[in-house]
This record gives sequence, structure tokens and C-alpha cells, in this order.
Amino acid sequence: MFTQKIAKYLPKIIKFGFAMVLGGVSVAAIANSEESNKQVIEARQQNFKTIEQNMKPLNSTLNTDLIDWSQVSALAITSHQAAIELQSAFPKGSDAGSRAKSSIWSKPAKFNTLMSQMEQGYADMLEGVEREDTALAKLGLKQVNGTCKGCHRQYRSAW
Ligand code: HEC
Repeated sequence: MFTQKIAKYLPKIIKFGFAMVLGGVSVAAIANSEESNKQVIEARQQNFKTIEQNMKPLNSTLNTDLIDWSQVSALAITSHQAAIELQSAFPKGSDAGSRAKSSIWSKPAKFNTLMSQMEQGYADMLEGVEREDTALAKLGLKQVNGTCKGCHRQYRSAW
């Protein structure tokens, strides 16, 4: 009698269990992607902060008569590293909860160009630093500085 009842309801029980599992999985997947999105956003904002914080000391150390190349080198390396990481720091759908505008993904051409110009500027600066070539180092930094405003105007929301 009891086993008959179980047999009768078994398909329903299985379906219900299956739905629970599916539901559980999809909710977990959403939660995970939200969590990783948050990490992606925090990491890229941190990289922008590093770039900004290094900018003043880079400018001032490169504009002194007796350049402290080891200090410049440390700043140049961390800035360049941040610029490299930023190149892959904007996966699709990572705008929510950040200042990244959706135009990054709908009009990516200029964004990507500016991003690689910034990276290239740091690469040139690093080369200048390695050769202790002040002119090249400054030129690279100038190229970097020429990218910030143009990108923010079009691709970063005012809040
Ligand atoms: C290719 C585009 C691009 C370039 C080039 C760029 N930025 Fe940004 N920047 C952004 C975007 C988009 C955000 C918003 C990121 C977010 O909120 O996730 C941002 C955010 C920032 C932030 C705020 C970080 C935070 O804590 O929220 C700072 C500071 C910053 N940028 C500085 C700079 C400086 C300095 C330069 C030039 C040396 C520069 N950026 C070059 C696109 C760019």
C-alpha cells in the first residue's frame, strides 16, 4: 500500500527534487557571477588608483636634475603592470555598480585604442628608464597622460 503510493508520487518527487537542484545551481551561478563581477571591478579600480598615485611622483622625479632611476623604475614597473592588467579588466556586463559606461562594449574601438595607447606609453617610458634616457621616459609618460581625459569623458560616468 505504502510502496504503491510512493510509486505513484515518485515522478513528482523526482521532478521536485530536480527543480530544487536546478534552482539551487542557477541561483548559485548568479551569486558567483555577481561576486566575481565585484572582484573584477574592485581590482580594476585599484589599478587605476595605482596609476593615479604614481603619476605625481613619476612627473616630479623625472623633472629633477639628478634623477633617482631606481625610484623611477619602481614606479614605472608598477604603473605598467597596472596598465597591462587593465587591458583585460572590462569583461562584458561588468558595468553594474561601477563607473564604467555601457559604451565601452557598444563602441569599443576608441576605448581599446586609448587603453593600448596608455599601455604603450608606459612601455616606452619603461624602456627610457632602463636606458636612463630621460627624453624617452618623458615622451612615454606624455603619451600616457594624453589618454586619461579622452577616455573618462566618453567611457566613465560622472557617478
Ligand atoms: C581606455 C580608457 C581609460 C583610460 C586610458 C584611463 N582611464 Fe581611468 N577610468 C576609466 C574607466 C572606465 C573608469 C571607471 C572604472 C570603474 O568604475 O570600474 C576609470 C576610473 C579611474 C579612476 C577611479 C578609480 C576608482 O577608485 O573608482 C581613476 C583614479 C582613474 N581612472 C585615473 C586614470 C588616470 C590617471 C589615467 C591616465 C593616466 C586613466 N585613468 C586612464 C577609463 C580609462
